[in-house]
Amino acid sequence: MNAAGGVWQGGGRRIALYEVGMRDGLQAETAFVPTDEKIALIDALADAGMRKIEATAFVSPQAIPALRDASAVLRAIGRRPGVIYSALVPNAGGAERAIDAGADELNLVMSASESHNLANLKMTRAQSFAALSGVGLIARQARVRVNISLSCSFGCPMEGDMSEATVLDGCARFIEQFGAQGVTLCDTTGMAYPGQVFALTCALRARWPGTELTLHFHDTRGMGLANVMAAIDAGATRFDVSLGGLGGCPYAPGASGNVCSEGIAHALECMGYDTGIDLALLIAAAQRLPALVGHAIPSQIVQAGRRLDVHPPPSDLDAIRARAHARPRPRA
Ligand code: COA
Ligand code: ZN
Repeated sequence: MNAAGGVWQGGGRRIALYEVGMRDGLQAETAFVPTDEKIALIDALADAGMRKIEATAFVSPQAIPALRDASAVLRAIGRRPGVIYSALVPNAGGAERAIDAGADELNLVMSASESHNLANLKMTRAQSFAALSGVGLIARQARVRVNISLSCSFGCPMEGDMSEATVLDGCARFIEQFGAQGVTLCDTTGMAYPGQVFALTCALRARWPGTELTLHFHDTRGMGLANVMAAIDAGATRFDVSLGGLGGCPYAPGASGNVCSEGIAHALECMGYDTGIDLALLIAAAQRLPALVGHAIPSQIVQAGRRLDVHPPPSDLDAIRARAHARPRPRA
């Protein structure tokens, strides 16, 4: 928990933003973003200061056609020193292809909820865990980092709330049985609320202080930024964000966009946190999205600009001022 000033005074504290827009953002889009445009966006995100970028997903092309060019994307990006290029994988076949294409990290995905795991991955949780244990081994042999993303950690659109015990049990298997470096608690359909986020973040940090914990929120019900602040209050320092606020799992009813990269970076900058992000470059990257996905994007920052982007006054402001001054003073 933070000292005086609480979470509202960043005081230069470092918060790491991990970009997931090229995976979570694009996976539900009907338009296929051309491979060279994906590569250019990933390079732009690295230039804007993102230190970890989930570049794509090595999943069935039938399940996620928008990311069927995963290998081509990962092979062609301009590798920026210090940037971790991560890829989502659901099974051993995906892991081998991801490593072959040069992934620095495998982001292993399964769900805290049995129903969502079946809908999304066509496996029971037990089957997913068995498949991912094999992936852990493959990653260790290839000396590639492993992160586990636990979908629906804050609730499932088909089952309702997830108990803390279910979520901790899911994490325990990965952290204790095959040594994942990082765990990401995913709020797949924006069901999380700040009190819940605070409690679960505290519980995880207390139990596994050495594990890199990342929080992954969707802004489905407008609680995204509040949840980020609740997690910071509980000591979290890593957040997944998605360019333009795109995102959502096609196999989760009611899913919508992630918390927006430029929105969260802007808010944290206003509060004095150090995200290492060049906002102007990030906003410029987000502005490319509507033409690529074929629709307007949720980003409020792209729509409204930054809070101190002042606008020119009306051209007749001087005349308005003169008229205002010429008005007789109202009697007291
Ligand atoms: N990468 C590419 N292709 C894969 C693959 C992978 N990781 N895993 C399986 N496939 C292919 C198989 O080769 C097979 O192809 P074919 O029909 O041409 O022979 C096809 O996908 C079906 O394989 P199967 O093992 O029967 O998979 P499934 O139909 O039971 O689906 C998953 C299981 C996990 C592969 C699939 O549900 C999936 O990719 N889900 C990911 C969903 C997702 O990304 N959601 C959003 C992120 S949370
Ligand atoms: Zn997500």
